[in-house]
Amino acid sequence: MNTRLMAVVLAAAAFTIGGTAQADGNADTGKKKTQMCAGCHGIEGFRTAYPEVYTVPKLGGQSANYIVAALKAYKTGDRSHPSMRAIAGSLSDQDMADLAAYYASVGKAQ
Ligand code: HEC
Repeated sequence: MNTRLMAVVLAAAAFTIGGTAQADGNADTGKKKTQMCAGCHGIEGFRTAYPEVYTVPKLGGQSANYIVAALKAYKTGDRSHPSMRAIAGSLSDQDMADLAAYYASVGKAQ
């Protein structure tokens, strides 16, 4: 019982340390979160998955600040696209920072 509790506390502590150390947005973490974006924004942020349905903006290489601002605007309703409002509404500020860090880094690498 005690050992088990200790393991939980240690795991939580490790998680907290990892999370706060990268509060500004972690591209590696962001990459994992792009699963929910890739269906529309394409593999690695470059291609549109459904060009025949509608065009989707390219995210790779956008500035991180721009991406965060856009996501916040969808979340608050300042931007009104229905799919993006639904998606952005489910993201925390940290999610947005991570995703923005990732997409911004993708463009620079190419
Ligand atoms: C259901 C399809 C869909 C999904 C899933 C989706 N997007 Fe979008 N996204 C769009 C469309 C369509 C637009 C253009 C909307 C508009 O015209 O305002 C857009 C616009 C954006 C913009 C603004 C780009 C610009 O140039 O202004 C950002 C940033 C963005 N999406 C990020 C994301 C992120 C991050 C995710 C994953 C968490 C995601 N999107 C998931 C379809 C999607």
